[in-house]
Amino acid sequence: MAEEVLVKEEAAGNPLLCSQAGLLPVPLRCVPVESLTNLEIYLQTGGKYSLYNAKGLHFGLRDAERLLERKIEYVYISVKDHQVYYETMEKALSRIVGDPNIQEEKKTEILYATAIELSNQLLAGPPGKEEVKRAANVARATVELIMRNRMAFGGLYEIFNHDFYTATHLVNVCGLSISLAQKMGLYDVEILQQIGTGGLLHDVGKVFVPNEILNTTERLTAEQFETIKNHVLLGRQHLEKVMLLSPEILAVVSEHHERMDGSGYPKGLRNEELSPLGRLAGIVDTFDAMTSVRPYRSRTFSVGEALQELEDQMPKKFDKEIVNAFTVLIEKSLPQNTMANSPGGPGGGKVQISAETISGAKCTQFYFRIPITVRKLEKTGDKLSLGPARKLTAHKITCVRIGFLSDLPFLPDQNIYITNQQLEAIGMNKLIATISRCINHRDGWYTVEAEFIHPLSIEIIDKLKTITAVREVSLLAEN
Ligand SMILES: [Fe+2]
Repeated sequence: MAEEVLVKEEAAGNPLLCSQAGLLPVPLRCVPVESLTNLEIYLQTGGKYSLYNAKGLHFGLRDAERLLERKIEYVYISVKDHQVYYETMEKALSRIVGDPNIQEEKKTEILYATAIELSNQLLAGPPGKEEVKRAANVARATVELIMRNRMAFGGLYEIFNHDFYTATHLVNVCGLSISLAQKMGLYDVEILQQIGTGGLLHDVGKVFVPNEILNTTERLTAEQFETIKNHVLLGRQHLEKVMLLSPEILAVVSEHHERMDGSGYPKGLRNEELSPLGRLAGIVDTFDAMTSVRPYRSRTFSVGEALQELEDQMPKKFDKEIVNAFTVLIEKSLPQNTMANSPGGPGGGKVQISAETISGAKCTQFYFRIPITVRKLEKTGDKLSLGPARKLTAHKITCVRIGFLSDLPFLPDQNIYITNQQLEAIGMNKLIATISRCINHRDGWYTVEAEFIHPLSIEIIDKLKTITAVREVSLLAEN
């Protein structure tokens, strides 16, 4: 213990800069203390970061309480440790979901972030038995969250990412499948868990599909599409080698692309040949695909349009009863503005932002929601006020930096892209930018400065101003 205190005191006088170090904020009140044990823990004071607990040293409940008594709500861990952190969180998920002292919103956020992290790992290589068991554990926690609270599905949907990454799709399908099955009267926790596990695993066969095909931004050729179709059989074969699959997992994995009229794949099953769970999985899979931004598709469906499309395709392709139940689930759970106005994401214009760090062939993805508002932006031709010493003319802008407030830090040189409905409406559904700086604020948020790779027109900047959830966008400078 004496040694621990000594390390803490020494470290306190040796601050590190968060923006360069790459730290993740951890809400102390919400996470289990064991998720921080053995990790380097940093504290933030006045914009500086100090090592509080060295790696390998015990960090216990009493330590956490002491920090909370000092009104320290957040500690920080290294981005490098995020995998260890999330794996510990994963083990504690059921306890977190059942903890009456943690806000429902926080539980949902923790569950979603943990599930995304696991999905990234499932897709990093063919998953083994251990990963399949972990998927079942995450599915169990999702079932518990949804069953405990009537409003939980709406909360979960609210934080869904709608980008084209397979990892987010796996998690979305897991949550949608469990909620829909429950909506249709299935309350058996074990079976719901299997359905959710199937959702998390349903596209793992994509690890056998070449990345250049999966990630192409061009329209798929017929040959490429045939290659992609193989993911169903390859995924099933792989999972069967790993372990004995329950009928529910098997149905979701192997039938999610089958259609009632036999037009689906891989087997072209028809009507009764398709299991009820296979039909259900096909509906939620299609819905999530339609409402997600895809690199090769120019347009994303709003929630309302996607439901209409499913309805138009029933009973030919989709089971009528399940589509009807799904429509009720979505319409009852989501705010009305989400239904009509918000392709690619709920919330009537919330910006979703994803960042990826490319190291070798691997991509680590981080997912953010960024509430920001616009300031200091004027009309075309007006002078923009950039503080006392800086001015520039709006129509000459070729490259700008925009500051976002984010709840997680970005690393300099990370690529990010931004999508939202307003940008899509003007034909820009993806803005790619490179992070140039990440600055911490006292409240645990980060301002992220991003340089856009393509010039931003004043129209696009104006569109950014109209995003309701935006809290702060400041035009900083033209180099
Ligand atoms: Fe699929």
